[in-house]
Parts: sequence; C-alpha cells; structure tokens
Amino acid sequence: MTRIVYINGQYQPYDRAFVHAEDRGFQFGDAVYEVCEVRGGGIVDETRHLDRLDRSLRELEIALPMSRGAWQIVLRETIRQNRVRDGIVYIQVSRGAAPRDFYFPAPETPPTVVCLARPIAPERGEAAAESGIGVRTEPDPRWNRCDIKTVMLLPASLAKERARAHDAKEVWFTDGDGFVTEGGSSNAWIVTDDGELVTTPATNAILRGVTRMTVLDVADREGLRFVERRFTPEEALAAKEAFITSASNLVMPVTHVDGKAVGAGEAGPVARRIRRAFHGVAELVT
Ligand code: PDD
Repeated sequence: MTRIVYINGQYQPYDRAFVHAEDRGFQFGDAVYEVCEVRGGGIVDETRHLDRLDRSLRELEIALPMSRGAWQIVLRETIRQNRVRDGIVYIQVSRGAAPRDFYFPAPETPPTVVCLARPIAPERGEAAAESGIGVRTEPDPRWNRCDIKTVMLLPASLAKERARAHDAKEVWFTDGDGFVTEGGSSNAWIVTDDGELVTTPATNAILRGVTRMTVLDVADREGLRFVERRFTPEEALAAKEAFITSASNLVMPVTHVDGKAVGAGEAGPVARRIRRAFHGVAELVT
C-alpha cells in the first residue's frame, strides 16, 4: 500500500495526494513518466531511467523540474517513507496546471511532479515467470512518437484489457506491415531456432526500454548472439522461445501468441537464464 506521495515538494498522505483539476497531464495527457524497479531498497538502473526521463521532457519541451541530485533524493525519500524494500517507484512530470488551452502555458508555469512507491512481493513475479504468459496481437493504434514515455496510455490500456478478456496478459502491437512493434507496456523478444535473440529496433515506433538495454548487456555478458530487427507473430510462433521485458515484469517468458503455443508452450530456458542473470548486470544503487 502506498502511504505517502511526493507532490511538488511535499510528502502528502495518500488520501490527500491531489493535483489541480486543470493539470495538463489530466486534460491533455501532457506528461511523461518513469517506472523503476526497487530491489532490496535500492533502485535498479536509475541512471538509465533518469536519462530517459530527461530525454522525454526535452522532446516535449517541458522544463526539467529539478536536478539529477534532487531526483535521487526524492526517489529515495519516497521509497523510505513508504517502507518499500521490493516493488516499484513511479515518477510523473506534467507541463503543469493552467487554464485549458491547446497552446502551451506561460514558460514560468511550474511542472507538476509526482513520485510514489509501492511494494510488490518478488515471489509474485517469480511465480508468473515460472508459468509464463500469453500475448494477443492487435494492430498498433498509437502515434508515431512511442519513443517518448508519455502518460497517453489509453490505447495500451484498452488493448491490454481486450487481451485479458482473451486470457492473455499482454498485447503485442503490430505495424502496417504486420511486424510486432512492442507490448502494451513492454518490449517484445523472440529466440530463434539457432539460439539468436531478436528484438525490434529502437525506432520511434517503440519505447526504448531500460530493461531491453540491460538485457542486451546481459546477452553480451552471457555470450548470447542478438540482432535488432523486426519479426512477425508467425515468426514468433515458429521460434524456440519468446519473452517480454519491462521494469515491472523484468524478463517474462511468453508461452502463447494468440492462443497458439510458442515452442513447447512453456517458459523457455533462455528467457529464464537471462532473468536469473539480470540483476548481476543491472545497476543497483541504494
Ligand atoms: N512500461 N514499451 C512500453 C510501451 C512501455 O510502457 C514499457 C514500460 C516498456 C518497457 O520499458 P522499461 O524496460 O524501461 O520498463 C516498453 C512501464 C513498466 C509501465 O508503464 O508500467
């Protein structure tokens, strides 16, 4: 349970953690965010997450609300006040509150900053990774700047809900040529018959996942071959294994695509090996 939420310089009790009715995050989806894994009280891959946050803010011309050092303090204080050892920490920055107008507000309008932290029992993720998940494919309805981590998550939310109605935990979006772009809230991978890792190139069509970057480091360290190229759902079904990556799921085996088994229809050994090796490679700062 989240108890305390950081909002614009103050740590507020959860039930009094409000932002303004005319916040641009609320009215226009004019906000960016990050989700970092918290492990043993430390933050996993904090540098990469804060680098990506800076980039998202720059791309949308939202003023950087605080220094790197201040972010590090806010993240840690939020984790500490919520007594999170294992879980996630979430940060969101919107362009701020101003009378509703499509044009940007005056440059002196302060961005709205929110940080919250929530415990998640690690056993939950481990159990899910043992059995793996199903994914359901759908045409990608999103805009062409999916490289920016904005809160405009309605297409992903709707598609994930439809996936759930079909017994799948995640959606895999496909582009106009029928290739998989990414998951609703994760990056997509397969392991080919000859053991090569394949993941979609980091273009504007996908979010360049921090977990994806670190898994590429893991592949290097483990001597696994990898290539960044597109693949189709059919290729995934003919592959040995498939998996997704995200800060909240880490490396999660995919056993089924559109109800059909990938490989043996079980969590694959390569995905499990990468999952086990992940925290030995990722940055962890307390
Ligand atoms: N989602 N692609 C999309 C569309 C995402 O929303 C996410 C993350 C990823 C994976 O990125 P990373 O490895 O940096 O978490 C890829 C987060 C976890 C979320 O919205 O909860």
